[in-house]
Amino acid sequence: MSKVQDPRLEKLLAMREQAAQGGGAARIEKQHAKGKMTARERLDKLLDAGTFQELQPFTKVNPDDPKAYAGDGVVTGYGMVDGRPVFVYAQDFTVVGGSVSLTHARKIAQVVEMAMRNGTPVVGMLDSGGARIQEGILALQGYGELFRQNALASGVVPQISVMMGPCAGGAAYSPALTDFIIMTDQTSMMFITGPDVVKSVTGEQVDHQGLGGAQVHTTLSGVAHFMGRSEDESIALTKRLLSYLPSNNVESPPYVEPTDDPQRADAKLNTIVPEDPNTPYDMREVILSVVDLGSFFEVHAGWAQNAIVGLARLDGHSVGIVAQQPMMMAGALDINASDKIARFVRFCDAFNLPVITFADSPGFLPGVGQEHSGIIRHGAKIIYAYVEATVPKISVVTRKGYGGAYIVMSSKSLGADLHLAWPSAELAVMGPDGAVNILNRRDLAAAEDPKSLHDRLVAEYREKYANPYRAAEYGILDNVIEPAQTRPVLIAALRVLREQVRNVPPKKHGVMPV
Ligand code: HXC
Repeated sequence: MSKVQDPRLEKLLAMREQAAQGGGAARIEKQHAKGKMTARERLDKLLDAGTFQELQPFTKVNPDDPKAYAGDGVVTGYGMVDGRPVFVYAQDFTVVGGSVSLTHARKIAQVVEMAMRNGTPVVGMLDSGGARIQEGILALQGYGELFRQNALASGVVPQISVMMGPCAGGAAYSPALTDFIIMTDQTSMMFITGPDVVKSVTGEQVDHQGLGGAQVHTTLSGVAHFMGRSEDESIALTKRLLSYLPSNNVESPPYVEPTDDPQRADAKLNTIVPEDPNTPYDMREVILSVVDLGSFFEVHAGWAQNAIVGLARLDGHSVGIVAQQPMMMAGALDINASDKIARFVRFCDAFNLPVITFADSPGFLPGVGQEHSGIIRHGAKIIYAYVEATVPKISVVTRKGYGGAYIVMSSKSLGADLHLAWPSAELAVMGPDGAVNILNRRDLAAAEDPKSLHDRLVAEYREKYANPYRAAEYGILDNVIEPAQTRPVLIAALRVLREQVRNVPPKKHGVMPV
């Protein structure tokens, strides 16, 4: 601290210095020894140099308590990320384990509320032992006030939670209410009840990471959207994510001067779909080829991999991509894929991101487990989300469009602005095998050579129904396009659709099947 003359100014600088020390040198060292940064170090990495402005650094739980920490375990404020304003908070584990008092919660709730009022994203960095135990009900009041602001801000400004330590108990509902959760491998964890409680109630033995670490939540539960292998990587993911998003729900997403040719065709796409309908191909290759090179940023990449969702750019404009992955479960839709798609479509709609859908699904996944866990309820969410969405919606059927799985994937009937297919598309109520068996049961039973009759009937069915031209003739498809031309076709469409206005019937809100 430089020596200054005015004692009043000296006092301010001394107080600032003390607040910046958090829980003190020993605890900072302990934090570093765990491979974790302090709250201020994390904010330094996230924000453009010199842009951080702190709010309420001197707030204390009890100003009369000489031992009370200034700032109360959370650093809040605002700054810039890549030249765009964001509100931020970072919990400071060195101060009473980053635990949440009413004061601490209100500091966070205030930045969420300010972000909402000013149309600015909010990024939280979480590292906390949960409700401050000695505060009792006051801490719970604080969490409730924070949850309320998170829920109110939903759909108004993007909210991103970056997990960099524990987040236990009901505390996990704050990040759960935000749009994206980025977890840091090994050091972050989220669970409603910890390993001890789990063991005493169910007898299951599991450690923190096995119960709710980054790998669990990015592959099994779907609670988290991204995993950083280190805090640096989690922060880099946060910045990349922000680069696709508008600052609020009335702003257009940021435009990035494109380096990729909007007319770029890719001949590889003309042969990517194998002639044998049961041979898979990688839908990710289709996406990577169509969007601006290097711009695809997959969301929920490790969970429900039979579906693909992610952000990308087309001619410099942000879009949301939704697709099936024929490489996983043949692209069948199950409960998790339904949740993944519906949630992402709603996010895109809330933040003015056009939704491009690549459909190839043989149907919904059959099974007692799926039915008993409510595939009907979950699958319905996809329909709800697409119908509700007023952003431009473009869909391309690359191969299978069968039954309900065809309808839900942004079909014309649900209100797609532009519904396209590749020549390899098969649009029918069900696949040829199943259809032939039902339609020709008696003939097949009576046939001398049922196998050859079956094969002939399947070939006839394919010829007649399993192609895009019936749908095109009925006007259900807007066009059948050459796969190589998909990128230029999508870019041309977005140029005319981007500013569209679509009205929905007035209502307080719908009752989404959840
Ligand atoms: C008060 C807490 C605290 C808490 C940690 N500390 N959590 N103080 N309330 N919730 C303090 C510790 O006493 C310790 O103080 C310091 O923070 C650092 O904690 P350590 O235990 O030394 O750190 P570590 O070994 O890394 O373990 C981290 C931990 C553990 C796994 C998070 O601290 C822990 O299990 N804490 C309790 C977690 C919990 O059960 N929280 C309540 C959940 S219920 P000293 O002075 O010794 O350094 C909940 C309900 C919310 O949150 C409901 C919202 C609706």
